[in-house]
Amino acid sequence: MRTIVAGNWKMNTDASSATALVDALVGKMGGQPGNVEVVIAPPFPFITQAVERAKGSGIIVAAQDCHQAEKGAFTGEVSATMLKSLGVGACIVGHSERRQYFGESDALIGEKVAALLAADIIPIFCCGERKEERESGRHFDVVTEQLKGALGKFTNAQLERIVIAYEPVWAIGTGLTASAQQAQDMHAHIRSLLHTHGASVAGAVPILYGGSCNPSNAEELFSQPDVNGGLIGGASLVAEQFMDLLRIAGKVKH
Ligand code: 13P
Repeated sequence: MRTIVAGNWKMNTDASSATALVDALVGKMGGQPGNVEVVIAPPFPFITQAVERAKGSGIIVAAQDCHQAEKGAFTGEVSATMLKSLGVGACIVGHSERRQYFGESDALIGEKVAALLAADIIPIFCCGERKEERESGRHFDVVTEQLKGALGKFTNAQLERIVIAYEPVWAIGTGLTASAQQAQDMHAHIRSLLHTHGASVAGAVPILYGGSCNPSNAEELFSQPDVNGGLIGGASLVAEQFMDLLRIAGKVKH
C-alpha cells in the first residue's frame, strides 16, 4: 500500500511566502524516505510557481478544488483540464470546508471526481462526520453515505485511482485529534466499504487521516494498519513540521 503525506495550505500564504515554503520543502527533500509520496496543495494563484520550483524534487503539486465542467461560462472557476495543463498531479475534493461554506453535495463532489479522473489527476476525496454526528453515534453511517453518494457510480478501475482522506470535522483546526483507535476504526470501516467492490479496490486506495495531525501525534496515528498517511492543514505551513511528518510516515510504514 502507498503511503502519502499531503499538505493542504487552504487560503494561506502569499506569492512570496508560498514560493519560500516550496523552496524550503524542495531543499529538504534530499534524504527523505523514498516510500512516502509527498503532495502539497497551494492556493490556485501559486500553483504555477509551485510546479516550476518543485520540478525534479518528487513533490506532487495538487489543487484544493476544481469545477466539474471541462470549460465554459463559469466565472471564477477552474477546470481539471486547466490544472492538468499546468502539471498538477492531484486535487482535493469534497473538503468539509467546501461542504460547509459552499454547500457542496455528495453528488456534486462525485462530478468533480469524474472530471479529475477524465483529466488524469488523482482525486483526494475527503469525508468525515461533524461533532454532533459523532456524539449521536452516526459517524459510520454519515461517512458511508458520503462515500456512496459521491463514489457509488465509479467502476473498479476508476475507484483504484482515488485517494480517500478521512477528516472528522470536529478535529479540523481545533487541536483535537481523533484518537488512534477512532481513526483506525473509521479507516477500517472505509476499507470494508471499498472491499464490497473487491479486494483489488480495497488494496489500492490509500486512506489518509486529517484533523490536527502534527509531529507529536502522527506516529501513533500513522502506525494504525489502515491509516496510509495524512492530509495536513496547519502543520503543512511550517516546512520543518511537514518534513517531520514525512520522516515519521517513512519510519512507521517502511
Ligand atoms: P488541520 O491539520 O489544520 O486540522 O487541517 C486538516 C485539514 O483540513 C486538511 O485538509
